[in-house]
Amino acid sequence: MDKLIINGSKRLTGEIEVHGSKNSVLPILAACVLSQGENIIHNCPMLSDVDAALKILVELGCKVKREEHTVCVDSSGVNGFEISDSLMREMRSSVIFLGAILGRTGKAVLSTPGGCEIGLRPIDMHISAMEQLGAEVFEEHGRLHFECKNGLHAARVILPFPSVGATENIMIASCVAKGTTVITNAAREPEISDLADFLNGCGAKIHGAGDSTIIIDGVEKLTATTHTVIPDRIAASTYLLAGAITHGRVCIKEIIPAHLGALIPVLKQSGCDVSVSNRWICISSPPRLSRVKTVRTMPYPGFPTDVQAPLTAMLSVADGTSVVVENIFECRYKHVSELIRLGAKINVEGRTAVIEGVPYLTGASVVSPDLRGGFALVIAGLAAKGETVISGVEHIDRGYENPEKLLSLLGADIKRIKENGTEKK
Ligand code: UD1
Repeated sequence: MDKLIINGSKRLTGEIEVHGSKNSVLPILAACVLSQGENIIHNCPMLSDVDAALKILVELGCKVKREEHTVCVDSSGVNGFEISDSLMREMRSSVIFLGAILGRTGKAVLSTPGGCEIGLRPIDMHISAMEQLGAEVFEEHGRLHFECKNGLHAARVILPFPSVGATENIMIASCVAKGTTVITNAAREPEISDLADFLNGCGAKIHGAGDSTIIIDGVEKLTATTHTVIPDRIAASTYLLAGAITHGRVCIKEIIPAHLGALIPVLKQSGCDVSVSNRWICISSPPRLSRVKTVRTMPYPGFPTDVQAPLTAMLSVADGTSVVVENIFECRYKHVSELIRLGAKINVEGRTAVIEGVPYLTGASVVSPDLRGGFALVIAGLAAKGETVISGVEHIDRGYENPEKLLSLLGADIKRIKENGTEKK
């Protein structure tokens, strides 16, 4: 497995662009199963989660071609309705294929996702919604079987929590359900709107995506389209935090700044100078960051849970004590024990982390616990004195395309050492 080696304490400066959104492209690739023909997806990030999604598409009978950041998915020959156990394990979010497979073939078989690094990841809301749309569900040998003998029909689905994945699955499946479906308490993340734009491009009739009530008028079938994925707001946020912790001056270009609306006030409170145009955000960070008022992760437009770990890393060297409350996932503090190895002073009790800022961190060997927690260690390593060696980089590769290249462009001293001990150029 690869390792990242960082020689810290280098001030990051410069401008970068981030890749397309992982959380947008995964449901969009899944939805390709439903749109019969050759879909062209631009700005598709090169991530291991995307590779896993492409393998699932092939398993279902799609033809997939990739050229750099453009992927063609021809779903005219879809004949499968099962996702194998091994691919379910490769990508936890593969439940996102459920609605598309059901809508296309009338049945679907997949494994229960089980727990993962950040929590239990139950899928009860997905299952209940598919039942409301007309599917019968039973479990056998750890596999979930869905079947809708008389096709999908519309429903009024009230979500107990605005789950991103459940909202996406319902939106995708109900595009081809008979009648008008209404989702109440839907997730409002920008990735939901991006998925709706893709589906509407395929001929779906979705209104209100981005609001908490989404209305979908079912159509007979979807046809293929061309779509450009939105920029990754989580990656953009993470690189801004990397700039902030190194007292740097970093601009992220070609993004949609409104998508980072909850992070900007936190950066300002920490003492960063933040300037925003319609396509970029630049930050300039002070010699010592300040503590911030309690940050609570919430569904969009609240502070994103995916930015909690990188923020915790940044606050570990702020002047004063900050508090972070994780409200979305129950086990999302696994990076904390590794940050402590780097000299951070953080105390976690339940969902709350109390971060007592220290003047500096020192390099050490640490292990990436999960995707965002892994990047939190990169951020800490960039600020730490001396060398930080991060293993478990495969987690980071699920969601960040070539992070060492982007960080090097900003002046970081970071390299990737491959399993055989050679440096990746
Ligand atoms: C998506 C994102 C992930 C992000 C999360 C929250 C993708 C591929 N992943 O994950 O990066 O951290 O949104 O913004 O887009 N829950 C249930 N039952 C369900 C579904 C969810 O209890 O049926 C719970 C989850 O355990 C979690 C909370 O609801 O505690 C939010 O999960 P959800 O919004 O569904 O996240 P994902 O779609 O899995």
